[in-house]
Amino acid sequence: MYTPYKHEPFTDFSIEENKKAYEAGLEKVKSYLNQEYDLIVNGERIKTDDKIVSTNPAKTDEVVGTVSKATQEIAEQAMQAASDAFEDWRKWSAEARAGILFRAAAKIRRRKHEFSALLSYEVGKPWKEADADTAEAIDFLEYYARQAIEVDKGKHVESREGEMNCYVYTPCGVAVVIPPWNLALAIMAGTTVAPLVTGNTVVMKPASNSPVTAAKFVEVLEESGLPKGVLNFVPGSGKEVGDYLVDHPKTALISFTGSRDVGVRIMERAAKLQPGQNHLKRVIAEMGGKDTVVVDKSADIETAVNAIVVSAFGFSGQKCSSGSRAVVHEDIYDEVLDRVAKLTKELTVGNATESNIYMGPVVDQAAFDKIMSYMEIGKEEGRLVVGGTGDDSTGYFIQPTIFADLAPTSRMQQEEIFGPVVCFTKVKDFDEAIEVANNTEYGLTGAVISEDRQNIEKAARDFHVGNLYFNRNCTGAIVGYQPFGGFKMSGTDSKAGGPDYLALHMQAKTISEML
Ligand code: NAD
Ligand code: ALA
Repeated sequence: MYTPYKHEPFTDFSIEENKKAYEAGLEKVKSYLNQEYDLIVNGERIKTDDKIVSTNPAKTDEVVGTVSKATQEIAEQAMQAASDAFEDWRKWSAEARAGILFRAAAKIRRRKHEFSALLSYEVGKPWKEADADTAEAIDFLEYYARQAIEVDKGKHVESREGEMNCYVYTPCGVAVVIPPWNLALAIMAGTTVAPLVTGNTVVMKPASNSPVTAAKFVEVLEESGLPKGVLNFVPGSGKEVGDYLVDHPKTALISFTGSRDVGVRIMERAAKLQPGQNHLKRVIAEMGGKDTVVVDKSADIETAVNAIVVSAFGFSGQKCSSGSRAVVHEDIYDEVLDRVAKLTKELTVGNATESNIYMGPVVDQAAFDKIMSYMEIGKEEGRLVVGGTGDDSTGYFIQPTIFADLAPTSRMQQEEIFGPVVCFTKVKDFDEAIEVANNTEYGLTGAVISEDRQNIEKAARDFHVGNLYFNRNCTGAIVGYQPFGGFKMSGTDSKAGGPDYLALHMQAKTISEML
């Protein structure tokens, strides 16, 4: 019925034809800037007076779209619609549900550069990063569709004589999906379709920085045959609508990706039994990171320099997986730092809707202010080597920044800055490097650059992160190849894009019949 899964290839923009295709995508998005988007509850479009105005972070007077904002009353209607739709949707075959994902993947693939260009407009993504975000969304659709058909077969259990046992998976009910803005298409799409394809119904509250991308994705699912009420789209305030949905007694499952503090708040609230609730809520929470690139003294310097720069400055450091810490052996510390500084000075910063730059803006004023406040902390705690400046006069631009000589316990080396800032710490040996790499409350990604087999083995055993990479950057996990999710305060280690992920959205049921 379907071909074996393989991930969506990335686009080479050095090829003129591909460059032109992306520019056509930008033109297409430009033709529908400033449109209005409605809430969707039970398949009905709803307009409200209160709006989210989504703007281009590189050009803040450019409106990408205006999206109606849900109230708690509308959130309640969405919960009821999802709860009603569950009774029919849960009975659909896995193949029929997967078919919707296959069709959606094909539609997005055909409009690939348009979707990527929308990411350039709405969250300031450079072309390469936007292309990877769209590819990952397609991958989630393709991978979860295939997995759902597999999961539906259940698992083998033993039967004794005169007895027939089977072990199957059944959906949980209404899932509340709360994605972040940074992988505005991929994570939003992946966390939405995983509960859907496994037979749950969904109320999705998109991030307020990327609601237009989410609205366009919901349109694709509708065009692909998703019945009304199965996915309800309720943009709104995290506190007002988010809390309401999390607390709702009918919520069976919450799939959240975002910051540590909001994740912890959701875990706490979901644990509290509400009047009328007759089940425990399940929470998938993927949260922040403070990720380290370790450079061993045996490292290939070129590999180390590239790994640090790509990990730190890809999408302006606004990835949970960003390598915001470089922990480098003292013998090569100065050389690595000098070469990273040289390469960083060559990076281009600008507006991705106008040209193919390396780094765009950061996402909004709050992010700009937060990151700039860390520049002052960095100057107090360490030595500014490159960057340190920002300009928010027309968009939220911050220069790629390097601080050196940070203490491992400094705020700069402990707190998630979520911007284009990398901090260097010098260590005397590999044991100390791993100790420093592990000394934050997070445990999401990490990279080790080393040619020493014993040190590689040590890191594989002792570097406590959900995604560990050797001799490469610590960002850019591929669906189906590098399942993604973190330890410690980085979350529930759900491993998105992995073989166990869909089962997290289901309940296992044992059925035993006497023959
Ligand atoms: P955020 O926590 O501010 O927001 C995430 C989502 O939660 C948004 O949709 C937001 O509207 C919603 N929200 C806010 N308050 C809420 C509340 N009280 N109840 C319910 N929902 C609420 O995070 P962000 O700024 O969108 O994303 C950046 C963060 O996400 C970073 O910390 C980053 O590391 C993390 N992240 C983690 C992963 C991962 O897989 N571990 C992936 C991407 C991003
Ligand atoms: N999954 C994304 C990465 O690996 C966040 O960079």
